[in-house]
Amino acid sequence: MIKRIAVVGAGGLGREIRLLILELISAGAPWEFIGFFDDQLSVGSEVNGSPVLGRVELLNEEKKPLSVAIAIGDPQTRLAVYQRIKNPLLDFPVLIHPSTYLGEKGRVSLGEGSLVAAAAVFTTDISIGRFVLINNGVLLGHDTVVGDFTSVMPGARLSGHVKLSEGSFIGTGASLINGASVGRFSTIGAGAAVIDAIPDFCTAVGVPAKVIKKQAE
Ligand SMILES: CC(C)(COP(=O)(O)OP(=O)(O)OC[C@H]1O[C@@H](n2cnc3c(N)ncnc32)[C@H](O)[C@@H]1OP(=O)(O)O)[C@@H](O)C(=O)NCCC(=O)NCCS
Repeated sequence: MIKRIAVVGAGGLGREIRLLILELISAGAPWEFIGFFDDQLSVGSEVNGSPVLGRVELLNEEKKPLSVAIAIGDPQTRLAVYQRIKNPLLDFPVLIHPSTYLGEKGRVSLGEGSLVAAAAVFTTDISIGRFVLINNGVLLGHDTVVGDFTSVMPGARLSGHVKLSEGSFIGTGASLINGASVGRFSTIGAGAAVIDAIPDFCTAVGVPAKVIKKQAE
């Protein structure tokens, strides 16, 4: 049976996730892509040829089952949008680009709503939480644990035994050495090298990564 699927967020990531869905459909996934839900754009406008259907709250009025991908890069915004969706008829599938190397069967897990973009590489004994974004070309080594609502941006490299806590954001091309960790809702700047434990609610940049900002918890 064909099931409807929509994307929340019609920005750059939303357009990429639309493309991912269309590629999965071409490869045989039983979905029909119906369009975007986005608070900023007017209903009836089009993004890459697909319609904007309404604000996020409109999802709560859906009367039929609908699969939803939340395509918002910022972890805190993604969490806040998820918390506004209350409709039990909706489900949040894991979407994995066909080019992903998914590592050892049965030893890589991904929680509901997680999105894996093109050319990511997983190895073995990897646990990915709910509503995680693994962006293009991310490398994930053995025994890595990624918390819910985390974003790992393009080309980031996580060596073995890396731990990313809930809501962390790993910037483009950052590298984390074996055993490195990032605290809850912390941000790692693009190109940083994380060599130890970065605490909760802060921003760290550079090689090696040093904390430059702390946010209120
Ligand atoms: C780290 C980051 C979040 C900081 O953003 P911010 O909080 O707005 O901070 P600012 O731009 O005010 O920069 C603060 C300082 O850090 C420096 N800095 C910022 N990003 C840096 C980075 N990635 N590496 C090294 N230094 C960096 C700035 O030059 C500035 O230095 P100064 O105080 O000496 O002038 C941001 O620069 C970044 O790297 N984001 C990652 C974005 C990304 O990967 N997006 C993926 C999209 S697909």
